[in-house]
Amino acid sequence: MPDNTTNQKPRHFLSLLDLTPEELQGLLKRATELKQMLRSGEPHASLKGRTMAMVFEKSSTRTRISFEAGMAQLGGHAIFLSPRDTQLGRGEPIEDSARVMSSMVDCVMVRTYHQKDLELFTEHSQVPIINALTDLLHPCQLLADMQTYVENRGDISGKTVTWIGDGNNMCHSYINAARQFDFKLNIACPKGYEPLKQILNPAADRCQIIHDPMAAAQDADLVVTDVWASMGQEDEQAKREQAFANYQVNDEIMAQADQDALFMHCLPAHRGEEVAASVIDHPDSVVWEEAENRIHSQKALLELLLL
Ligand code: CP
Ligand code: NVA
Repeated sequence: MPDNTTNQKPRHFLSLLDLTPEELQGLLKRATELKQMLRSGEPHASLKGRTMAMVFEKSSTRTRISFEAGMAQLGGHAIFLSPRDTQLGRGEPIEDSARVMSSMVDCVMVRTYHQKDLELFTEHSQVPIINALTDLLHPCQLLADMQTYVENRGDISGKTVTWIGDGNNMCHSYINAARQFDFKLNIACPKGYEPLKQILNPAADRCQIIHDPMAAAQDADLVVTDVWASMGQEDEQAKREQAFANYQVNDEIMAQADQDALFMHCLPAHRGEEVAASVIDHPDSVVWEEAENRIHSQKALLELLLL
């Protein structure tokens, strides 16, 4: 329940930039700790009696399951809300929905199209809001990606990450991660599919666009890609398949990277499009750990925002 007795503003997680680098490092440590506690059967019901609403305006497998199961493991409860079932889906104003929902639950997770809608919801919320993906950003995924890198290879600061593909929500969150976790980011995208300048410019000291994917992958410690057509861009699929034809992460690309390089993909993936089956199904691919770590890192996030 929101605490109406103090004037303290709730903490939100709309972007990786909402937490300090120190908070993010602490969160990753806690995520690994929570993972070990779960595996060893050690109880960790730190959010007993707490409730989270989960507003999904787009599809999801990982995000829904990880938040819902994660909240249950912490002793709390999560409520799945799709636009088909809520009045939000029938046009109830975002402001009104936010006021009502946040008067009843301790936290709201939102997956929607426009970052502006998420910000509007947040302005009218009394409780922490979590960005569970917008067209602009996908910060929760980066928590899992960073946890996965650290667990496999140690500190990511000073390393080189190569993003191959669309300058989309995941790419934007990688740019923010480069700032917060202090790594170098090479971005290989076709002309016309670059990340937004508003995200890229503040990170210009550590991120560069290299349109040639082979050159961008040179000596990379981590190679990452994502779908060519994101949710909401289904009608651009054919056009994008042409534009991105030379941007598949395949064995030739991985051969350019460091020999210890890992491969990540937030999933869902399309084998034979943005990634070759031989790469995603190779031992250097950590996509399954990456997906699993969604639950552990988000449990750490919930604790950070709610305790
Ligand atoms: N990676 C990710 O966010 O997956 P879902 O769309 O299945 O939630
Ligand atoms: N860029 C993808 C990420 C899916 C998790 C999308 O927005 O559809």
